[in-house]
Amino acid sequence: MKEQEIIALADQNIMRTYKRFPVVLTKGLGQKVWDIKGKEYLDFVSGIAVCNLGHSHPGVIAALKEQIDNLTHVSNLYYTQPQTQLAKLLVKNSFADKVFFCNSGAEANEAAIKLARKYTHEKLGDDKFELITMKDSFHGRTLATITATGQEKFQFGFTPLLEGFKYVPFNDLLALEKSISGKTCGVMVEPIQGEGGVVIPDGNYLKEVRAICDKHNILLIVDEVQTGIGRTGKLFAYEHAGIEPDIMTLAKALGNGFPVGAMLATDKIAESFTPGNHASTFGGNPLAMAAAYATVKIMLEESIIDNCRKVGAYFLEQLKKLQLKHKIINEVRGKGLMIAASLNIEAAEIINKCLEKGLLINSAGSRTLRFIPPLIITNQDIDRAMEILDDAMEGK
Ligand SMILES: Cc1ncc(COP(=O)(O)O)c(C=O)c1O
Repeated sequence: MKEQEIIALADQNIMRTYKRFPVVLTKGLGQKVWDIKGKEYLDFVSGIAVCNLGHSHPGVIAALKEQIDNLTHVSNLYYTQPQTQLAKLLVKNSFADKVFFCNSGAEANEAAIKLARKYTHEKLGDDKFELITMKDSFHGRTLATITATGQEKFQFGFTPLLEGFKYVPFNDLLALEKSISGKTCGVMVEPIQGEGGVVIPDGNYLKEVRAICDKHNILLIVDEVQTGIGRTGKLFAYEHAGIEPDIMTLAKALGNGFPVGAMLATDKIAESFTPGNHASTFGGNPLAMAAAYATVKIMLEESIIDNCRKVGAYFLEQLKKLQLKHKIINEVRGKGLMIAASLNIEAAEIINKCLEKGLLINSAGSRTLRFIPPLIITNQDIDRAMEILDDAMEGK
């Protein structure tokens, strides 16, 4: 099919929940993708913080090929080796003792919300069910997770929402402390707000949130769906704060492009889930587990997270130079390779120009450019991206 035919047929037959760029992508390798006309793009979106090892990583492909020849799906009625191996690897490299596997970030957060309620009902009584989440947070698109998401634009039209959520400004410890009542069962927070605009909290914020949770005997849930698996320069972003959460959610980069999610918790909390409490037909599917096991292993064994830290620092430096030249850039911020530039104009204009010139970037909020490239990029890739951005911003 030709490009225009694919676009027209897609628009005719697929629900219009997405505003898509008018390109049809057909191939990806490392930090590059190609469209159906053969045009090459430097990919600084990575499928929205998913392909952290780059497109078509040979280690992930080999693991998938081997798995597909043996077993693709059997359900959770039986044990499988790939699921066991991944669980062990995640437990070994995190605060957690147990994992629940699912298929997406929203589903992982649903599981976290259910586990927090179940644990609190059992241990602390039925009147403690309220979760405090942050304004401008993003936790997914199911009914529970749009309720957890502190942004009205995602909730509009879908009321009534779920009972038992309260919102406080991110990075505001006083507001958090004040909002805790006898009904509170926990706090749910992204270590760095992603969709809310790459908002980085003050140095001690997460540590203080942990202390507040301990003081009030409530749970700390970190949503690492976007920040997890190396993105911020540590395997998990909570590590920067020197704390351990009670529950963590993962998805996005966990399978480097193969759909998979996970919810992790300490034994003390996880034991509140007993057979029949929660489930997912596809959760822990052998193909997803093989892809995720290969992804996490490669992330840990190769120097990719190191590279993320180094090139991330270089990226910020170069963006700050660009800021001196282009007055439309208000602020540059980031950690690892989760980087943003807020503008005083609409981001779409710049994003479309970059697309034309062969650079994929996207926005987080209407005036913030977000850069979430594969963690394997080089300084040369950043130099090329800066040339294109510089060009796109010329005369603005
Ligand atoms: C922090 C965070 N949580 C949850 C989600 C939802 O993940 P999914 O789209 O896989 O359901 C996202 C997606 O952007 C996210 O950034």
